[in-house]
Amino acid sequence: MDVSLVDLALGSWISAAIGVAARLGVADVLEEGPATSAELAKAVGVQPDSITPVMKALVMVGVFAQDEEGRYTNSPLSEQLRTRHPQSMRHMCMLLTGLYAQGCGALLEAVQTGQGALNARFGVGLYEYLEQDPETARIFDRAMQEAARPVAAMVAEHYPFENVRTVIDVGGGNGELLKGILAAHPHLKGICVDREDTCRRAEAALRESGDEDLVERLTFRPADIFEECPGGGDLYILKNVLHDWSSESAVRILSSISAAMRAGDGERTPTLVVMDPVREHDPGAPLRPLIKMVIGEKNTRERSEADIRREAAEAGLQVVSITPLPPDLSAVACTLAP
Ligand SMILES: C[S@@+](CC[C@H](N)C(=O)[O-])C[C@H]1O[C@@H](n2cnc3c(N)ncnc32)[C@H](O)[C@@H]1O
Repeated sequence: MDVSLVDLALGSWISAAIGVAARLGVADVLEEGPATSAELAKAVGVQPDSITPVMKALVMVGVFAQDEEGRYTNSPLSEQLRTRHPQSMRHMCMLLTGLYAQGCGALLEAVQTGQGALNARFGVGLYEYLEQDPETARIFDRAMQEAARPVAAMVAEHYPFENVRTVIDVGGGNGELLKGILAAHPHLKGICVDREDTCRRAEAALRESGDEDLVERLTFRPADIFEECPGGGDLYILKNVLHDWSSESAVRILSSISAAMRAGDGERTPTLVVMDPVREHDPGAPLRPLIKMVIGEKNTRERSEADIRREAAEAGLQVVSITPLPPDLSAVACTLAP
């Protein structure tokens, strides 16, 4: 199908329709079997006449399908809107079509003033905003969890954890990465460091899960990572955190980790692995600079290898290796500079 300029300009309408389907849980309903508009509307509690245009638009782009009787079914794309799908992206779609789309609404102002679009829209940065909107914060946590799941499996399988005892995930959200690593390596303990409200929600969810072994081995530690980070880790991880911040802020975060690494017992040499896109190594995401402009603080730019090496050096660290971690991430291993 040829795509016209107007089709592209209508892209936000499709995005909004995906957001509606994600929020209403349409794919979860269709998991039970095909449904007419009336059946679907009843199941999700909306007007039948109103859900039909949304579903028709989504069928047009391949998100959902229709059977020979015209009933709606899931399609390969809408499968990932199912909550129980192992690679579910339901909450990521809610985040992208909700808060982040609102940020995009202020893109012109961001381009004119140089500030981040979310900041232009709400007058505060992403994380200050989330503190004021617990419902969106919950969606954000779940979206990060969905994005972290495949990386957790890859890291758990390939990283040499034999000589590691304690892994500290800095800005680790609700601990999805650590959960994957700890499940695969029973000798490890994990500490997930994040903002107070994130830790509170994550700890409650972990206790509710009833997983006694993880409750025993995984701790949530609230801290402002610009100011402090717990000591005692053999391995520190900083995944998808730096990409929200300017170079100046990145050096502050790296410095608090390097101070924690330096305060260790001296018995072991701690390592920090930064997992973030590095321009030369992860070139496949042309939208990345735009995403930074919407979500990041002012002056947040794509990092090159030279940038991350300089920021690490300013924080008292040295980069010892850079390994591609598909898709769209590099694992930058750092030790304390001599
Ligand atoms: C983009 S998310 C990445 C989460 C997780 N590392 C992952 O990859 O799924 C960034 C995380 O940094 C945390 N964060 C932001 N500012 C923070 C601060 N000042 N102190 C502690 N954590 C912070 C956020 O709460 C969020 O969980």
